[in-house]
Amino acid sequence: MNNALAAVPAVKTSIQSQIGEHLKNPIALRLNPPPPVPCVFDPVVSTATTNILARGALSEIIGHHRWCGTEADRRAGAELCASRLGYRADDERIVLTSSTQSTLNMLIPGLVGAGGVLAVDELTYPPIKGFAERYSVVLAPVRLDDDGMIPDALRKACQMHRPKALYPLSTLQNPTTVTMSLERRKEIVAIAREFGVSIIEDDIYSLIPRNAPPPLSALAPEISWYLLGLAKSVAPGMKVAYVVAPSKEAAANLFWPGVRATFWMTAPLSAALATELIETASIGQILDAVRSATAARHTLVHQYLRNIDHRLGDGGLHVWMPTPPSVTSADLTTRLAQAGVLVSTSDGFAIGEGGVPRAIRFGLGNPSDDSTLESALTIIAAEYDRYPLAKA
Ligand SMILES: Cc1ncc(COP(=O)(O)O)c(C=O)c1O
Repeated sequence: MNNALAAVPAVKTSIQSQIGEHLKNPIALRLNPPPPVPCVFDPVVSTATTNILARGALSEIIGHHRWCGTEADRRAGAELCASRLGYRADDERIVLTSSTQSTLNMLIPGLVGAGGVLAVDELTYPPIKGFAERYSVVLAPVRLDDDGMIPDALRKACQMHRPKALYPLSTLQNPTTVTMSLERRKEIVAIAREFGVSIIEDDIYSLIPRNAPPPLSALAPEISWYLLGLAKSVAPGMKVAYVVAPSKEAAANLFWPGVRATFWMTAPLSAALATELIETASIGQILDAVRSATAARHTLVHQYLRNIDHRLGDGGLHVWMPTPPSVTSADLTTRLAQAGVLVSTSDGFAIGEGGVPRAIRFGLGNPSDDSTLESALTIIAAEYDRYPLAKA
């Protein structure tokens, strides 16, 4: 919506009625799951479930722990990860877990530990702060630019803080949406190698973009823990993530049988479903559908926010919008909540004391249909319209 349109009485009334409606029932854009694709997802998952049940009794499937995954689960995981890594890791390096979060819950204490330092993007996935607090790990924020983590800043952080591990979000960074170039990836990997820093690479957003560069983990497999969760490509409720450890010994050391007080393991039915989707290649149908639905939502974002500065990477599920200079991201977020749209402030993603850029982040996939997203975008555009300097 631009000022010219806002001046038209019919459009004004329509915005007001949309705002009134969403005040009672706010549109939640704080989470960023993939957009729903029931027409594809339901039949594909239904067929996969039927196949699983036809092959084995439920008592056999659910009757036992699956530990790091069965051989078939690990084989399937190796195959899916190969689509990103460009090579097929030995099955014994693969660990199946219940989510990226539960994996981080093992890797952060296991690789860094109390008093150790974890280097992270200066804006990053917020639960990292909770993990650091829980395990008394010190976070060393590394500055970002338009190509992601800045190599010189990482070098300085390594010299000053001697981090044991690095947690980069190289593809569709959360929250800034940046996808690191291959050149930058090589520079980051070289520094990690030089300082003996393990890489914990969370590649969760990488299956939807068509041409994401290879992960850092492909460039330095010997120091990398590669994490590929299905929450942002298939469904958050799948509760399946794949880990590629640097070696089979490292996998066994940090997961089973090395660590016995555990809760990383995925539920057997979820594991069986993920394996079936990968073995039959039907996961590709879901990914294609999510890709198309995401692209359709990108078109809406660009259309509704066409005159307003906003960032959205290819295949990305979240939008990053600098706030106008005259308003803080907290105030803007409050105003949007009052108008019926829930978004996140940049502060929630910030690590350390550095100046936090003023911005909001919102997800595209949570609304059940495109028209609800359109209502949210109308409200966001109308709010930005109040500040003329917000124009791109
Ligand atoms: C960077 C990142 N990693 C992981 C997750 C969550 O993944 P999971 O559900 O597999 O724990 C999110 C969710 O927002 C995320 O942004």
